[in-house]
Amino acid sequence: SDRNEKMINLILLGLPGAGKGTASERIVDKYHLTHISTGDMFREAMANETKVGLEAKSYIDKGNLVPDEVTAKLVEERLSQPDIKEGFILDGFPRTTVQAELLDGITKRLNKPLTNVIALEVDEDVLVERLSARFMCKNCGATYNKLSKKPKVEGTCDRCGGHEFYQREDDKPEVVKNRLEVNEKMNAPLKDFYKNKGLLTVINGEQTPEKVFEDIDAVLSKEQ
Ligand code: AP5
Repeated sequence: SDRNEKMINLILLGLPGAGKGTASERIVDKYHLTHISTGDMFREAMANETKVGLEAKSYIDKGNLVPDEVTAKLVEERLSQPDIKEGFILDGFPRTTVQAELLDGITKRLNKPLTNVIALEVDEDVLVERLSARFMCKNCGATYNKLSKKPKVEGTCDRCGGHEFYQREDDKPEVVKNRLEVNEKMNAPLKDFYKNKGLLTVINGEQTPEKVFEDIDAVLSKEQ
């Protein structure tokens, strides 16, 4: 049907700090896709102290990956919900080839085939700099950066007007190093997995957020 032809089911790949969350916001604004971030889902589960949240916390606070099966189950439950009408962005999943294989099963069972995989490429030294400068609004979770994205009015969240900010536990320097190492190991095999399927586009994530989105938009607008 027409509707299915217009569906965009996208994976955003990129190491921690590559700008997946930042790009997702802009993609959602234009394409109305459902944003599914496993990191956000785990942080919510941790805040609510659910069983999954408590299990995830022991991994996340050290910068390690939550086990593949736990993560894949969460994603399958989310993708099964009826609100995903115009397609989805997977942000932060898959991040191992095992997860990529599990996702193949999920998209087949749910009849929601992937249409695009976009990898944001950023050098490691830039990632370290970005992550240590990132801070979040305590109230709404909006993301800022001491170097590149300060609130328009100092000390006030642009999105919700909140005045309290915090640094993510896993953005502290001793955790960032391990996070990058853990994710770097899986990065090339994951890109190869989708390159072999003919789905992969690589984009330079060191450009301004506006330019990064322009490049993404050029890929996605071809789908419609
Ligand atoms: P998650 O929350 O997904 O963290 P991540 O992958 O490490 O990604 P980030 O959110 O840190 O970075 P981002 O790419 O979204 O960058 P952002 O746009 O914020 O996961 C957290 C943890 O959960 C994992 O470590 C793991 O333990 C667990 N987990 C999650 N998914 C899992 C899975 N599938 N399997 C197992 N475990 C899993 O940008 C970063 C900063 O840079 C911001 O301050 C931003 O303002 C700035 N910035 C962004 N773009 C630009 C730009 N173009 N120029 C300048 N600055 C920029």
